[in-house]
Amino acid sequence: MKSLQRSMWAACLIAGAASAQSAVSTAEAEGLAAIRAQATQGMIAVQPWAQLMGAGRLGIGWLTSLPADGVVEWTQTFDTGQPVAWQEAWFSEDGLRQANGTAQRAVIEGYDPSRPLRFRARSRAISSFKPYKVAFDEPARSQERILPALARPDGAVSFIVFNDIHNRTALYQPLLNQAGAPIDFAVLNGDVLQDPQSEAEIAQHLLQPMAWFTARGIPCFFLRGNHETRGAAARRLKDYLTLPDGRFYTAMTFGAARVVLLDCGEDKPDTSPEYSGLVDFDRYMETQLAWFAREIETPAFRQAAWRLVVVHIPPDWRVPEEELWHGARRMRERFAPLFDKGRVHAVISGHNHKAERVAPCPDAARGFRWPVFIGGAHPLEKATVIRVDADARRLAIRCLGSDGTVHAEQQWQR
Ligand SMILES: [Fe+2]
Repeated sequence: MKSLQRSMWAACLIAGAASAQSAVSTAEAEGLAAIRAQATQGMIAVQPWAQLMGAGRLGIGWLTSLPADGVVEWTQTFDTGQPVAWQEAWFSEDGLRQANGTAQRAVIEGYDPSRPLRFRARSRAISSFKPYKVAFDEPARSQERILPALARPDGAVSFIVFNDIHNRTALYQPLLNQAGAPIDFAVLNGDVLQDPQSEAEIAQHLLQPMAWFTARGIPCFFLRGNHETRGAAARRLKDYLTLPDGRFYTAMTFGAARVVLLDCGEDKPDTSPEYSGLVDFDRYMETQLAWFAREIETPAFRQAAWRLVVVHIPPDWRVPEEELWHGARRMRERFAPLFDKGRVHAVISGHNHKAERVAPCPDAARGFRWPVFIGGAHPLEKATVIRVDADARRLAIRCLGSDGTVHAEQQWQR
């Protein structure tokens, strides 16, 4: 009886999957195949992805199929007809260079961000690791990647923001098709991964997409939402990322824009039964809040032509008091006053699964003197990409649907 129930249940699952499959558009199928192509046979199991670490620093990650060492070979020399002199970069911590694992990392420093960068990863499988002798196999190299110059004249910077992909990586290509050009980098603004349970899920839903963006000349910055903090593999995310100062939150200057990237924390209190007593966000968010209070006093923040915040959970003045969730309350009551104090120009968020622009609060006494651009979510018809273009005189933010619909738009002039 049980096996009959099981087979009926399996049949329902297959039927459900088939109908979901037919709903997937050609653009999504092509996009998914291109992303999956970043997983390769041989020693390099996932081709390299590039992560922003701030001015003049770039993190590179890749996966190998066997425990190995890893370096990145990089150069800014292109087609001179002369042999190229490759420089080497690697990752080390506490005096030890990364080795004997399959998650590889390197940090490239000292390059000129006003010129394009060319790089490839190199790893050797470790066949024997003895205290005084390590044996390596022959080195394997990744595909070569080229990133355009990140620093552009007149403080110009353009970036795109994705949110709430929830493992539906097929959405990236159709959305990128609408995002326009140029694109200096992409921010993955939370809930792109859904409750990661394993390395395979992290690879499929985060690392392969980041490698795919990198193959298109677009480095990424990954920000957690409230779903990347859940699941058995949530505590392993840092193994695959090169984070500035080892933290998920940071602030970086790109030309005329200071961009603060905040880690939104969980949406429910730490004591909620869903977390089984294993989270400590209330304390962590206070630490981040103290850091952000210092950030808004820095010359880099105060003197920037444009001050932007990217954070998954939106601060929203409209929500009635009794409907505020814990995480949203924290954003509204603790972080938003600092957004006002720091005179941010705009906030970019997700989380609500509904694309909209929240206008500044009409009651100026309450604060909230900035708009919040909230991105949509799956399915494709409701998914969005938010595009930011800034230079010394102008800032423009647009929220675009996968069919090119402009859900929200605003421009600022100086
Ligand atoms: Fe969310």
